[in-house]
Amino acid sequence: MSGFITRAAPPAFGSHDEIGVTRAEGPCQGAVVPEDLFGEDVAARYDESSAEMFDPAVVGPAVDFLADLAGDGAALELGIGTGRIALPLHLRGIPVHGIDLSEAMVAKLREKPDADHIGVTIGDFATTKVGGTFSLAYLVFNTINNLTTQDEQVACFQNAVAHLGPGGRFVIEVGVPALQRLAPGERFHPFTVTATRLGFDEYDVVSQGLISHHFWEVDGRWERLSMPFRYVWPGELDLMARLAGMTLRERWSDWSRTPFTAESAKHVSVWQKTPSDQPPSAVASG
Ligand SMILES: C[S@@+](CC[C@H](N)C(=O)[O-])C[C@H]1O[C@@H](n2cnc3c(N)ncnc32)[C@H](O)[C@@H]1O
Repeated sequence: MSGFITRAAPPAFGSHDEIGVTRAEGPCQGAVVPEDLFGEDVAARYDESSAEMFDPAVVGPAVDFLADLAGDGAALELGIGTGRIALPLHLRGIPVHGIDLSEAMVAKLREKPDADHIGVTIGDFATTKVGGTFSLAYLVFNTINNLTTQDEQVACFQNAVAHLGPGGRFVIEVGVPALQRLAPGERFHPFTVTATRLGFDEYDVVSQGLISHHFWEVDGRWERLSMPFRYVWPGELDLMARLAGMTLRERWSDWSRTPFTAESAKHVSVWQKTPSDQPPSAVASG
């Protein structure tokens, strides 16, 4: 899960009430609220540390793809963050609402022009309900992996479909697990080794757990961040979609619809809400 540097920080739940921000009702008794790993420190550096993901050459094809699927309807972004995709999608004329756990990330979104047109609900995107019906729900930039158990990932699909109208689509952009890089019995894979920055992924192939460890030097001192993920296979996501009442419609290796192959490092997948009078199938015929 290399590709973006973040720093674990305490939850940044403030008391300020920004325009267009609502908070999900508290969890049911016994429900677990995921830890907010995108606190003030992370949010402050997010756009800069993910700069390549904000490149118009990266954002443009994603927004084209999503705008096309949203059609005349509205879009729901799970894990809206600082609005990397939501803002340009809004500027394309698509009404967008977001869910995010991090008040600090959403505060950064609120600093940007046009952000006041985007409603945000603070809460866990695996369980939080927002008002309205959407033609599209989407979850990009590996954010499904932020849910660290299979149960949470299954719940996320169920929550996405609950917001979709008839024929609505759910889109995920996520890396294909890079287990071919691991020698048999090995758990660690270095993804960055320079004089001032070290990074390695720690795999647990039993639980599909992955911790990305980042170390970087600042003024002669080494700082560290370790962030947990759960990697997930394309076929496993298809099964989660079936459980939620959706059918796979498209799978590509990028937003430009490059065919998905054995060499693809990531996939962009589209599932469609299955009509209630049809049984779900693993791959749609048309
Ligand atoms: C990698 S960032 C992606 C942000 C944005 N979608 C983008 O593409 O730049 C992940 C975002 O998901 C949010 N997030 C992670 N787990 C979450 C959860 N369980 N519920 C709601 N938001 C979550 C984080 O707070 C963060 O804003």
